[in-house]
Amino acid sequence: MIAKTEEDYNGLKEIGKICGAIRDELIAQTKPGITTKELDDLAGKRFEEAGAVSAPKGVYDFPGYACISVNEEVAHGIPGDRVIKEGDLVNIDVSGSKNGYFADTGLSFVVGNGSALSTKVCEVAKTAFEAGLKKAMPGSTTSDLGEAVYKTAKQNDLTVIMNLTGHGVGRSIHESPKHIFNYKNKWDNVQLKEGMVIAFEPFISSFEEEIYQKDDDWTLAVEQSKVAQIEHTIIVSEEGPIIVTL
Ligand code: CO
Ligand code: CO
Repeated sequence: MIAKTEEDYNGLKEIGKICGAIRDELIAQTKPGITTKELDDLAGKRFEEAGAVSAPKGVYDFPGYACISVNEEVAHGIPGDRVIKEGDLVNIDVSGSKNGYFADTGLSFVVGNGSALSTKVCEVAKTAFEAGLKKAMPGSTTSDLGEAVYKTAKQNDLTVIMNLTGHGVGRSIHESPKHIFNYKNKWDNVQLKEGMVIAFEPFISSFEEEIYQKDDDWTLAVEQSKVAQIEHTIIVSEEGPIIVTL
């Protein structure tokens, strides 16, 4: 969507704050011994208390309130019996809606002490996000963000996931622009405009560049790479990007 009115800005900021707070609380609770289902129950409770609706559940009938992906799982991990262990590389992705406004945010992190490579992909994802964020200005294109992400990965001897992308957001969870690739893609390139709302979510990988879908029809996974994502919902503005999910 293109945010125009004060109501738009306030609505996006409200749902952004709700999703950001749920993300942070789930991350804080992700300790060895807890199951991903227990984390997800907390997300469900917090959505209800906030008068908001989980986007994956509400829009796609996803079997969970949040997407919780562990180790080889990269995105859309289904909460369940999986027990979190020390050193796990976990991604928690929280998206939801309230009063017709949607926000989407996620973060990968290492539980306690993990491998140097797991820590590295998380750090480089943050660096890539910052590099792309600098390009998130009216007049730039989605490819400018992708190029910044790709360069950051390569500078750190890592790569990106080619078949996962950021996207427009705001009035629904996935809307125009359809894709923000993690590389420069001249065939699918959209100019950013004042007020445009995007979910920017670079995926940094240690080796593999494509995810596959598991037999559960949801989980997107790799074979053996370490993959990290960071995602925020951003309103593009001449005065600098407004991150609503901090
Ligand atoms: Co997300
Ligand atoms: Co997203």
